[in-house]
Amino acid sequence: MKDKQDYYYWKAKKEGYRSRAAYKLLQMNRTFKLIREGDLVLDLGATPGGWSQVAVELGAKVVAVDLNPMPPIDGVTFIKGDIMAPETLERIKEISETYDVVMSDASPKISGKWTIDHLRSIDLARASFNIAKEVLKPGGNFVVKVFQGEEIQKLFGELKPYFRFKKFHSPKASRKRSAEVYFVGKRFRKI
Ligand SMILES: C[S@@+](CC[C@H](N)C(=O)[O-])C[C@H]1O[C@@H](n2cnc3c(N)ncnc32)[C@H](O)[C@@H]1O
Repeated sequence: MKDKQDYYYWKAKKEGYRSRAAYKLLQMNRTFKLIREGDLVLDLGATPGGWSQVAVELGAKVVAVDLNPMPPIDGVTFIKGDIMAPETLERIKEISETYDVVMSDASPKISGKWTIDHLRSIDLARASFNIAKEVLKPGGNFVVKVFQGEEIQKLFGELKPYFRFKKFHSPKASRKRSAEVYFVGKRFRKI
């Protein structure tokens, strides 16, 4: 019998998405209405490009960033860079000073050690939020992946004041045993 992992893997192949991750964004967008037609979306940790494909289909223009190369997609400008590095923020800003949506599915290389992977993912989530703080428009939306663990409440405490709506969410397309959850923040405000 096919498990859930196979289900989304094969669905992505059939429907032309580059990753099963595309369904996580589709599901979250259905629930939270994160991306609107005409938006400029910043996609952090974007390779191979499933989330960028979804954003383009929703009528957005996308700037995508990843350490690894990404084959081109119409409507997507790609930056090869490290989201932890200050020069990457400069390159993002050269394309646009502001974005309607910042989304990050960035994941560390999995070591298999729960605490190490958790802490690395917290660092990536913080780096994503530091970028969002600089470029997200007031009223804009933010979504970021984090692997669960003891630092998650601290991170939530840091992000919370910046959003009128905030929630941790686990999309159906996430693997059942996965440690990942997504922080969804809507209606950003500068503080
Ligand atoms: C799960 S994949 C993203 C999948 C993507 N959302 C999709 O739908 O195809 C995670 C990505 O995060 C990237 N990544 C990890 N650390 C990064 C960093 N410091 N800067 C930029 N990208 C990073 C990895 O290279 C990898 O491509």
